Amino acid sequence: MSAASDGLEGIVAAETVLSHVDGEQGRLIFRGYDIEQLAGDTSQEALAALLWDGFADGDPASIGKALGAARAVAFEIAQPLLVPARSLTAIEGLRLLLAALPDASDLPHHVLATAAMPVFVAALARDGLGQAVLPPDPALSQAADFLRMLRGEPAEPEHVTALETYLVTVADHGLNASTFTARVVASTQAGVFSSVVAGLCALKGPLHGGAPGPVLDMLDAIGSEDRIEPWLERTISQGDRLMGFGHRVYRVRDPRADVLKGVALGLRGGTNRIRFAEAVEAGALKVLARLKPGRRIDTNVEFYTALVLEALALPRDLFTPVFAIGRVVGWTAHILEQTQGGRIIRPQSAYVGPMPKAAA
Ligand code: ACO
Repeated sequence: MSAASDGLEGIVAAETVLSHVDGEQGRLIFRGYDIEQLAGDTSQEALAALLWDGFADGDPASIGKALGAARAVAFEIAQPLLVPARSLTAIEGLRLLLAALPDASDLPHHVLATAAMPVFVAALARDGLGQAVLPPDPALSQAADFLRMLRGEPAEPEHVTALETYLVTVADHGLNASTFTARVVASTQAGVFSSVVAGLCALKGPLHGGAPGPVLDMLDAIGSEDRIEPWLERTISQGDRLMGFGHRVYRVRDPRADVLKGVALGLRGGTNRIRFAEAVEAGALKVLARLKPGRRIDTNVEFYTALVLEALALPRDLFTPVFAIGRVVGWTAHILEQTQGGRIIRPQSAYVGPMPKAAA
């Protein structure tokens, strides 16, 4: 047997019509559209229609209606689990609530899983603060309803558009760790909900979807412009990673970073510290080029995600759950694609342990 690829780097493990990541050109394509063509001009409902097309029925309007109705169902499922979730972090609570989605539900499972995300995240956040949880409004979009359920009042249109742009930008990304995980589970025919829970568990890690909270922790720890380079150099020299930098596929700047930087720049508010972040980014790229020569480490999506979500006044512990609100559209599309024709995903391992001793 040949040697294994460390971290499956360079291995093509699936064919997909859903998205293409060009790591050399810094290009991300969703079903024939560059991400820059979609972001800012596409609702989550329209993006779902695009990604689910051919795997499940629906145009943006009918999908919006189905998601609205399914949010009401998800709200009922959440109720008995909010008290046990109080001892958990937000992402752990989301994992608990998603695990309660019943395989016996007669709603389309990709719709219920997608609708459940904003309902569960908002309910967990408010209940955790001792505030009354708010039922969904089926007439609103997913993004508008999420902000309303979270804040207790309708969100300004510019915040809805900013969140929508974020949700669309992070909806899919080839065979990233969480999508691969979801496809592996789907390939066993375990069902949409089990596959989505598995995807969330992979997303939770700080090397994947857990990075944006730590990006803000890093900005806080650096504190002022004169400390940027010494702080970054010390961090890398200690063997730690700079959150929001580096990617398995991109060897140039992640195109989503620019989309989200534009969103962050467009948002007003005292928490929008974009200029300081730009200085940290420039310092990080300089220090990484010096201390990690030849690695071609650039800014990834999580750096400006952190700035966008902070400018939307979302608390840090909700950053990864909010990522899941966007990514679930991609997970479910991949799950549908996998189930409609894929074989069970079952690679091999190279045994490097001892062989049994020959009998005397
Ligand atoms: N900071 C410092 N050094 C880094 C970073 C970083 N952010 N990223 C990679 N490196 C270095 C590694 O230390 C390693 O150096 P070495 O060979 O001298 O030991 C080299 O670059 C290669 O790193 P790998 O871990 O092999 O790269 P891999 O492709 O496996 O990892 C990953 C990609 C996990 C994203 C990595 O770049 C990282 O940990 N980044 C920080 C966390 C982060 O921002 N994650 C979000 C990614 S985007 C997303 O998932 C939505």
